Amino acid sequence: MAIDEELGFVVTPWEVRGEVDYGKLIKKFGVEPLTRELLQRIERHAGYLHLYLRRGLFFAHRDLGLWLDSYEKGVKVVLYTGRGPSGRTHIGHLVPWIFTKYLQDAFKATLYFQVTDDEKFLVKQELTMDEVERYSYDNVLDVIAVGFDPERTKMFIDTKYAKTLYRIAVEVAKHVTFSTAKATFGFTESSNIGIIFFPAIQAAPCFLAQYLEGKDAHVLIPCAIDQDPYWRIARDVAPKLGFRKPAGIFSKFVPGLIQGGKMSASIPESSIFMTDTPEEAAKKVWNAFTGGQPTVKEQREKGGNPDICTVYYYFYFLFEEDDKVVEELYQRCRTGDVICGECKRKLAERVAKFLEEHQRRRERAKDLIDKFLVED
Ligand code: TYM
Repeated sequence: MAIDEELGFVVTPWEVRGEVDYGKLIKKFGVEPLTRELLQRIERHAGYLHLYLRRGLFFAHRDLGLWLDSYEKGVKVVLYTGRGPSGRTHIGHLVPWIFTKYLQDAFKATLYFQVTDDEKFLVKQELTMDEVERYSYDNVLDVIAVGFDPERTKMFIDTKYAKTLYRIAVEVAKHVTFSTAKATFGFTESSNIGIIFFPAIQAAPCFLAQYLEGKDAHVLIPCAIDQDPYWRIARDVAPKLGFRKPAGIFSKFVPGLIQGGKMSASIPESSIFMTDTPEEAAKKVWNAFTGGQPTVKEQREKGGNPDICTVYYYFYFLFEEDDKVVEELYQRCRTGDVICGECKRKLAERVAKFLEEHQRRRERAKDLIDKFLVED
């Protein structure tokens, strides 16, 4: 769907293909790059700048400045993010959620978390409703394990919260023509009618706080950039319903370990799943694509290329907080002082520690589901 070959890559909510040029994407989608001034404002409120902001994993936004204005003026601010439960959760999915927790802590904001079982059922021909339901409850554990505040978080699975969502979705849908939906998502004559309506369901939680409380609120949506087409629709409609336009803050994609592009559950050997054993994860790291030379001898002589290396990328964006340590790693790779085996071993250790900790919290999450999930 929505294939844009002229860019040389494709980014839609359902497909990411090719080498994504984020500069081009900013222009194409009409989002704004994050500025130093905005980062400083977030830092002021949060007390520190999250790694993902410092290193540019989150890179673009819509109306973030207005959202911060609202917060500073005392307008109620809320957060909204989600998951489409089409399989196991991988480490890329966690990026927006970890970041959302940082924002929740910083702004003491209520989070609305949508699980789009309907979307995944409609989009993935091979999935049955029963399978999607199983993934929904499985994925919810990964979300809770991230550590959201139960007092400030409402999670819902679309088909189990349909009454509330549908009420808002019809209001949205009335203002979205088929021609807009087609242009935004690339629907065709053969798209099923469920998915054509679905954007109204994903837009609905943008207005949930206002709807439930009958008061003004300003929503910020942290997610990867692939979800932006939904927010274009929601932002178009918002003023027509008397609401503020949702703001967004967008991340790049964590690449797969082998294929680059976006980490994708459909290439399991390239993705680290949150329920992988440390051994399984280590094996995947061991097979990762690096910027290394074919032999150790050549690596020592010519050095490697961290700029194209997924292992370095993982350290830089996800696993190494210390700026001096990543800079040193970069230089040592370039000069051939470090070889790929050493880097991979270190990364596998970090990943194992991260997974063990997550899996412990995931176990505990089983007793917390009722605290987080709402139904109607
Ligand atoms: P889903 O399940 O495809 O993805 C869940 C979240 O993870 C982001 N994401 C990634 N981030 C970094 N690196 C990656 N490789 C990567 N792959 C996916 C997605 O952008 C998303 O933030 N339709 C949505 C569910 C949804 C939603 C929302 C998401 C409903 N409401 C509001 C964000 C905000 C979906 O299928 O996400």
